[in-house]
This record gives sequence, C-alpha cells and structure tokens, in this order.
Amino acid sequence: MRRKKFHLGWFTNFVVDEWNEPFASGGGNPWDGQFFIDFARSLERACFDYIMLEDTLMVPEAYGHSTEAALKHAMMVPKHDPMPLAALLAAGTSKLGIVATASTMAYPPFLLARLCTTLDHIAGGRFGWNIVTSGEDAAAWNFGLDALPPREQRYAMADEYVDLVCRLFDSWEPGAVLMDRATGTYADHTKVHRVDFAGEFYKCRGPMNTVPSPQRKPVFVQAGGSPRGRAFAAKHADSIIATANGIAGMKGYRDDVRRHAAAIGRDPDELKVLFLIYPTIADTNEEAHAKHQRMVTSPAFIEMALLTVASVTDIDFSQFDLDRELPPLTTNGEQGSLDKFAQWGSGKTLRQLASERFSSLPPELDLIGTPDRVAARMGELMAAVGGDGFLISTPFQRVSRRYITEITEGLVPALQRRGLARTAYTGATLRETLREF
Ligand SMILES: Cc1cc2nc3c(=O)[nH]c(=O)nc-3n(C[C@H](O)[C@H](O)[C@H](O)COP(=O)(O)O)c2cc1C
Repeated sequence: MRRKKFHLGWFTNFVVDEWNEPFASGGGNPWDGQFFIDFARSLERACFDYIMLEDTLMVPEAYGHSTEAALKHAMMVPKHDPMPLAALLAAGTSKLGIVATASTMAYPPFLLARLCTTLDHIAGGRFGWNIVTSGEDAAAWNFGLDALPPREQRYAMADEYVDLVCRLFDSWEPGAVLMDRATGTYADHTKVHRVDFAGEFYKCRGPMNTVPSPQRKPVFVQAGGSPRGRAFAAKHADSIIATANGIAGMKGYRDDVRRHAAAIGRDPDELKVLFLIYPTIADTNEEAHAKHQRMVTSPAFIEMALLTVASVTDIDFSQFDLDRELPPLTTNGEQGSLDKFAQWGSGKTLRQLASERFSSLPPELDLIGTPDRVAARMGELMAAVGGDGFLISTPFQRVSRRYITEITEGLVPALQRRGLARTAYTGATLRETLREF
C-alpha cells in the first residue's frame, strides 16, 4: 500500500540558540543570520515545506512581575526582527518556503503589503506571512496603545486589514509591467489602480508602489485557536499551525477548520493544518527517554516553562512552591491554557506540571525514541488525524546543529523510507509546494 505523504514545517524564531548547552552552535551570537542560513539549507536538503519564523514584540514581565527571569534565561527576549532574516534565508535557499510573522497591530497595511511583495520577489515566490494580531498588552504598550483591543475586535480589524492588503496586491493588473523598449514604457498606467479603501478601521488610497510578486499574494499562515480565530484562519490561510493536544483534539480542530472553509465555498484541501510537535531523537529508545528526562527536569527548564505559562495566563507562578500542588486559580488571560497546564485534580506538584508542559501534555503522542520509532509514530498519528502534517520545534524554539541533524538526517530519512515525506520538490512556489499533495 502506498502511504500518504504529509507536510513538514519547522517552527523557530530569530532568538539565541542553545547558547549554554554542550552542543551550542551559534554560541549565543546568531545575530548575523549565518547560523540560520545553515539551518534553512539543512531543511531544504530534507525537503521541508517551510521554515516559520515566529515573532512577538515585547519583553515579558508577568513572571515575578519583573523582566529578570526572561532576560536571565533569554526567554522570548532577545528576539530580533524576522523580516530581514527572511530575506537572508530566501537568498540562501532556492526551494524551501520562508514564512515570517508580522502583527496586524504593528504594521500599517500598506507597509505590510509592500514588505510581503518585496520578500516574495527576493524568495522567487516562496514567501509566506504568518498573520497574528498580537496577544499581549506589553506589546500594545510599545505601539502607543494602553491595552490590546478585545479578541473579537482584533479579529474584526484583522479581517478588514487582510481584505485591504489583498486589494493592494491586486492594484496592479496582470500585464501592467510592459518593459517595452520600443516605446520606452516600463509600466502601463491604465493597469495600475487606486484602491480607495475606507473601512471601519483602515483607510488607504493606493495603488501599491511595487511590482506584483511571483505568487501575487504570498502564502498566508495563521494559528487561530478561538472560534473567531478558527473562522478567520479558515477564510484566509493556506496553512494553519496548531498545537497538538492529543489525537481527538487534533482531529477535532482540523475537521472544524475544514468545515468552516467548506461553508464559505473554499476547497478544504487548500488548507494545510500543521501540528506543532517536539520530538526527542537518539540512537536507542532508552537514550531518547533519558535525554528527554534530563531536559525536562533541569531547573532552567522548569523556570522557563513557568515563564511561558505566566506570559499567556498573566499569573505569576514564581509565588508558588514548586513541590506542592497549585491552589485553585482563574485568569483573565488564556483560561484554556491554564486548565491544560494545571491538570486540576491530578495531585501533581508545580514542578511536575512544569516538566510536563511540553512533553506529555498529550502522552499519547509519544514522540520520543529512535528515528524509526518516531517516524512510525508520526505516521500513525497522521493516519488517525487525517492530515496534513507537522511543524517541528523544541520547547523554547532554540536549536543546535546537533538537533537539526537528528531531525534532517535521522527522522526525515526514516519518514521518506516509509513514503511519508517528500524526497524532492516539484513545485516552484510555496503555494505549489503546499498543494502538491
Ligand atoms: C503554533 C503557533 C504559533 C504561533 N505563533 C505566533 C507568533 O509568532 N506571534 C504571535 O503573536 N502569536 C502567535 N501565536 C498565537 C496565535 O496567533 C493565536 O493568537 C493563538 O493561537 C490563539 O488563538 P486566538 O487568537 O484565536 O485566541 C501562535 C500560536 C500557535 C498555536
């Protein structure tokens, strides 16, 4: 039986590598981008669909009501701008999709459309925009706002924003660029149109001042979790990135966004859902488990895990004893994330919960072992969920060349031997790569 191939992405960002681990690669100084070029080329050799550069725009201070822990551990800060890095990665590769995050809160739509078009040209049609609305008040404070607008309004604004950006992409008709030497005409002005957009939140006259890019509209990536966010993603995204919260949760999520897409007349197969996973690979299953255990029980891991929960729940976990159960808690932040993390009624200590934050949240995923074992497990999971692929990462997104090699030279070949991953690119653009199967 020929097994069904699935898609592969890698979730990372412009942050420090494993700077204080034995196999540090960039030595904590990856800011010239060279380490990431090597990284992207490794993913391209392994025929990944895309590298995805996450981004946020603040220095966290929810944990301990201070920036101390975040800066001490280099957690979510420093984080450099993914857009110049995307240009560098695009220039250093020829097939891999390059996706970068930009917040609708931070960029005026005209500037974003222009940036996307410019990057899609540099990437020869391989650029994608990860659409986020920003989820932290601390980010809003950096942009002259006193607080984030409520989620519903953020998405209402994002809908209008994306509509405007698409009109700007279309403001140059196909064929507008003539480059006619006989008449000395570069572009036909009758094919370049104003957009005259006046919405509830945005106003823009247009036209765009850039030449339409190979994809015209870059690939759109999104990660809506709430009902409103899912509807947004189903309407706009070519690829959705989602947390892998157990087989039933993954299948339910994918079925739901595909239903939303079909309801508005989209072919659900245009929408590729990639689930975020953190495989641990070693030569033997025992070694992989030991490696995993070492990682998730280290004091730095525990504190960094609590810092990440603090930032999404706005609860200061530094106030609780690590070796006791959590008291009952509620939050105005992400209650769902809090409930998932706290495993209410399990009797686990805060230390145990922190250890399990990324690993055994859904114990059934079980992606720890040799390349062959993890590849087989990924195949089983995809068969149960229905599609469309995985987004590989590490708990805090930092990587070493060793980890990249374990995935690209160990796990991916094991997937390829099973007929589960591509062995060559066939599409020229990122959209074609995503729609290949
Ligand atoms: C895999 C994944 C990647 C995400 N990347 C980013 C990011 O780079 N920047 C950001 O501000 N939010 C990011 N988010 C948050 C989402 O944009 C979104 O706000 C979140 O999934 C909650 O969904 P909701 O907005 O519908 O509540 C990410 C979420 C997921 C699951």
